[in-house]
Amino acid sequence: MRIDIISVVPKLMESFFGHSILKRGQEAGHAEVVLHDLRDYTTTKSRQVDDYAFGGGAGMVMLAEPIAKCIRHLQSEREYDEIIYMTPDGETFNQQTANSLSLGGNLIFLCGHYKGVDQRVRDMFITKEISIGDYVLSGGELAAAVCADAIIRLIPGVLNDETSALTDSFQDNLLAPPVYTRPAEFEGVKVPDILLSGHEAKVNEWRFEQSIERTKARRPDLLGKTGLF
Ligand code: ADE
Repeated sequence: MRIDIISVVPKLMESFFGHSILKRGQEAGHAEVVLHDLRDYTTTKSRQVDDYAFGGGAGMVMLAEPIAKCIRHLQSEREYDEIIYMTPDGETFNQQTANSLSLGGNLIFLCGHYKGVDQRVRDMFITKEISIGDYVLSGGELAAAVCADAIIRLIPGVLNDETSALTDSFQDNLLAPPVYTRPAEFEGVKVPDILLSGHEAKVNEWRFEQSIERTKARRPDLLGKTGLF
């Protein structure tokens, strides 16, 4: 899978994508992330990417032309499954969306800034609009990084232990159970005996019960979606 991210501040994301599992995923050839500076697609000397809003009002609007040029350039080189615009008025991102985007092909993320992009870009090019939550960030970069991270780690082979993504919180609308590592006793607090028993079926049963308890306590809204109740 290839993920292209279009931004006015691509440098902001360079270090993020150059580290950790995202780097490993890229090195292993599972997912390639390519950052694009929108200013490279401008036609003016000042490399202008925004202008005043027609009709007045505070805040600048991102110009359609450089975005159209950048997207068309990318589309001329390969096919894309989705062209995603990161915006607080998009559909809220969740694990299901991450799952489905991780199964598909190439993606473009367009990061908005200022008052957002000219509506014609949304109408002409964008196939999906995503928000990462009901709050407004100063730009779509962090939001695109959040989505790309959640998607890339689901691609088989990116995580060391391939099964570990399947047991994440939210994967089945249940929160993950508590986890422990050595020592078996820390400052007088012991790891639950069952985890030391070596009895896999009982451990799985305990984890499942703990997941349900945690979800009931913290996210009761999810329980209805589990199909268990
Ligand atoms: N851009 C600004 N705020 C955002 C949000 N909450 N989600 C996605 N993109 C954004």
